Amino acid sequence: MEAASGSDGAELMEILADPVPERTAARLESMIERRLRGEPLQYVAGAWGFRHLDLMVDDRVLIPRPETEVVVEIALSELRRLRAERGHRRPLVVVDLGTGSGAIALSLALEAPPVAGPVEVWATDASEAALEVASANLAGLAGAAATRVRLARGDWWDALPAELSGRVDLVVSNPPYVAEADEVEPGVAAWEPAAALWSGPTGLEATDRILAGARVWLRPPAAVVVEIASQRATESAALAQAHHLDAEIRTDLAGRERVLIARTGPLPAGA
Ligand SMILES: C[S@@+](CC[C@H](N)C(=O)[O-])C[C@H]1O[C@@H](n2cnc3c(N)ncnc32)[C@H](O)[C@@H]1O
Repeated sequence: MEAASGSDGAELMEILADPVPERTAARLESMIERRLRGEPLQYVAGAWGFRHLDLMVDDRVLIPRPETEVVVEIALSELRRLRAERGHRRPLVVVDLGTGSGAIALSLALEAPPVAGPVEVWATDASEAALEVASANLAGLAGAAATRVRLARGDWWDALPAELSGRVDLVVSNPPYVAEADEVEPGVAAWEPAAALWSGPTGLEATDRILAGARVWLRPPAAVVVEIASQRATESAALAQAHHLDAEIRTDLAGRERVLIARTGPLPAGA
């Protein structure tokens, strides 16, 4: 009703007794029809809450999930740690690879400064369509937070300008991590973008690409925070170690192993 009438909670209460305008009734009918055909509520409503943001979402992007809110929380605590280690006030450079709606990047642009001082946030995606949604959400971000975000298109690290090489303090990503043999809820597979879900035969391909670039792009001490498939936590941690990063796994709100933190440790001799 809120979405169809264009009135938020308090406004809606005020107009509840009024006759429903024809246009609102038609919009509501069409939303109900879409929902009855199985389209997710978030796409039908056209917006969804993520941490402090009300994000525009449609079928060009993954619906932001509660477990990704935990990824942001962990990224914020890594930024706090990095700021304490660095001490100075130079903006910390943060990259969100595969930004989709912009959920992670925009949240960090909004929430990081009070806990970690100034930040510069790069939000990338291979999908032009996803970046259009991220751009619309960036336009809706109020005040100084919006000035901290840059959008870039390309295949994982290739999206970034070369001058960022060796300058990145934190990489955050919720990459596609569904493997060919994994089961996905029918509503998810039917409506959400395939490129946001499927990674490849093992489900670890995108995570591997992200971890593989870390040593080139990061400025140690630095960290990578990646959302992972809970059933592949051990393999994900092993991948990080294979790329000479220290690995730690954290759980989501449901207690599932969901987030890999990979930190730059000392390089092994000869690496
Ligand atoms: C699981 S979605 C995450 C979206 C958003 N960060 C979130 O958490 O809601 C993964 C995103 O990675 C993007 N992606 C897939 N392959 C990519 C690639 N090779 N390079 C960059 N981004 C890619 C998809 O377009 C999609 O937006």
